[in-house]
Amino acid sequence: MADSDHSRLSVALVDVNEGGEAEFLTLARTFASLILRKGYGRAETIRDEALPQRYYVVRHWATASAAEQCHSDTDVQAVTAKLYQIARITHVVNGARRADQLRLLMDDRRARAEADRRAGFDRRGKNQGRATGERRNGGDRRLGPRRLRDHPGEIDLIGAARRAREFADAAFSHFKVGAALEAADGTVVSGCNIENATYGLTICAERVAMFKALSEGHRAFTRIAIVADTAAPTPPCGACRQVLWEFGGNLEILLANLKEEKGKHQLKDLLPLPFDARLL
Ligand code: THU
Repeated sequence: MADSDHSRLSVALVDVNEGGEAEFLTLARTFASLILRKGYGRAETIRDEALPQRYYVVRHWATASAAEQCHSDTDVQAVTAKLYQIARITHVVNGARRADQLRLLMDDRRARAEADRRAGFDRRGKNQGRATGERRNGGDRRLGPRRLRDHPGEIDLIGAARRAREFADAAFSHFKVGAALEAADGTVVSGCNIENATYGLTICAERVAMFKALSEGHRAFTRIAIVADTAAPTPPCGACRQVLWEFGGNLEILLANLKEEKGKHQLKDLLPLPFDARLL
């Protein structure tokens, strides 16, 4: 199928249950031939070399409406229903534009994030704001790099945090936490808590995610998802709030457990009256 200007790409992360691999590969082949035959697009299944039961299913939709038709096609639904029984599926990209168009979208996001950053809270700036807490325009200047809300739902941030949590090293507390931080260009960087026998050197999932992202060159952020296996939501600890504020500004914080989302907050509400570089 030719790649048209209107084509779209979707990517799902598939973690196949123990022993379900052969069935998964059969279903993946059935799915691919079905969507090809019906003209919805094509699908490829890529095995993750590092994690034996993980696959990436990439769907190249012919058009955006072909993707929609496919989702409501009962033949396709019959196959995907079986897939959901033998695997955990996380949709990480839902219908993003392809190739050049995707790059343009990212550039556009980055340009806007950077403009926002200059206009908002600048953590490195000297003499920004007033130490007394007065506001030049009377408003709240702690907006940070404004979040980009115009492409909601493209990235399953909570799913990414749940997967990250599986790598938590919580030998002492047995309290496993996962975090997934979204950079302004749409990159998701995840983290988990890693404990230490000295206890004090333990680091939380949120800071692992933030430091990983910073060390990979990301400087503007939009949201962070935090997941623990508890009925009550697990909000970031005080130290993490400070670090997230310092580098991410007024992030959107999504709290969830293994089953459902448990709340959404703005960081400025979780960290009122912050200490930051403007006070130095
Ligand atoms: N922890 C996090 O990773 N994030 C939070 O938001 C709260 C606490 C970790 C730190 C420690 O390894 C364990 O959870 C118990 O406090």
